[in-house]
Amino acid sequence: MSNYSESVKDFVESHVIGLICIFSAGAGLVAFRRWMGGRVCKSKVRLDGKTVLITGANTGIGKETALDMAKRARVILACRDITKAYIAADMIRQRSGNGNVVVKKLDLASLQSVRELAKDVEKNEARLDILINNAIMMCPKWKTEDGFEMQFGVNHLGHFLLTNCLLDLLKKSSPSRIVIVSSLAHERGKIHFDDINLDNDYKCDISYRQSKLANVLFGKELAARLQSGVTVYSLHPGVIRTELGRHLFPTMSLWKRIIAMPLMMLIKTPWEGAQTTIYCAVEESLANETGFYYDCARKTPAPQAQDDAAAKRLWDLSASMVGLG
Ligand SMILES: NC(=O)c1ccc[n+]([C@@H]2O[C@H](COP(=O)([O-])OP(=O)(O)OC[C@H]3O[C@@H](n4cnc5c(N)ncnc54)[C@H](OP(=O)(O)O)[C@@H]3O)[C@@H](O)[C@H]2O)c1
Ligand SMILES: *[C@@H]1O[C@H](CO)[C@@H](O)[C@H](O)[C@H]1NC(C)=O
Repeated sequence: MSNYSESVKDFVESHVIGLICIFSAGAGLVAFRRWMGGRVCKSKVRLDGKTVLITGANTGIGKETALDMAKRARVILACRDITKAYIAADMIRQRSGNGNVVVKKLDLASLQSVRELAKDVEKNEARLDILINNAIMMCPKWKTEDGFEMQFGVNHLGHFLLTNCLLDLLKKSSPSRIVIVSSLAHERGKIHFDDINLDNDYKCDISYRQSKLANVLFGKELAARLQSGVTVYSLHPGVIRTELGRHLFPTMSLWKRIIAMPLMMLIKTPWEGAQTTIYCAVEESLANETGFYYDCARKTPAPQAQDDAAAKRLWDLSASMVGLG
């Protein structure tokens, strides 16, 4: 035997415990990262001839969801920043091989913009099979064009009006689905019925949680109001590396980035983060489920998200705020 293999053998023999530890730690880390990534939607169902509309599809989870949908159907990216949306649409067309991807302007912080988009879709689209309410605003104390607190206004009210304006087309296209991207943050949320815009005591996280609880309550009430044929799903996508914090932490110093890097490795990628949305949008076995909440699989939401009276009260309040008769 050569000297070389002799010394490798010696090394392995004398470091056997250390090597086993390193190997197991590596395997453990890989398994842990996989587990963190959550469940992958395996459905290969095609949606030829069908149309999917996704809000906030120019980045983050929305863009990944749109890419997956483009492999199955016609896709409308309803976006505020149109330049970013065209760039996303180009990428999606290229990577999906589907040229049937269009961009439409939608600013959820403007009721007029919501109504204009809905009118455009009603007039120019033959059908709408899946509506995905994904866009999100996480920000300081800002106001929408109509004077609503921004996070409640964009995350809930804008989508509330949009969904209602598109209901006729969704019904005509049934079986159709409405998917509402909420968050685990709803669990610590509360609807401040007496100060819905949080004028008296604004805190970004309180407002964010309120808007995400509103998403789940809206899904529940909407499902109760709809006849069979249009089903509704709300969900938590996981914790994901996206632009979510951009208005709160616009700049992070270099050393903070370096410290955050190993943590970022553990957080879901946008592709992993899109899986529960895709699951709710296409999974055949969910065809007869409506009004439920999902986190990879069906899950019971927080008690305040199961409150029928609150869901009804929020519906009435929202309808009067956006001027729905
Ligand atoms: N990331 C997470 O860890 C996490 C955790 C739980 C839940 N979620 C949920 O996942 C969904 C997607 O979040 P994300 O992390 O992908 O966020 P993101 O990267 O910040 O993307 C948000 C999207 O919403 C759009 N948007 C913001 N304001 C808008 C407006 N007024 N009108 C129309 N579109 C608007 C943005 O468009 P512009 O570029 O034009 O601003 C962007 O496309 C959200 O519902 C969020 O609550 C995310
Ligand atoms: C849903 O319900 C319809 C009508 O009752 C039934 O034909 C169909 O098999 C059901 N689908 C699933 C996935 O349960």
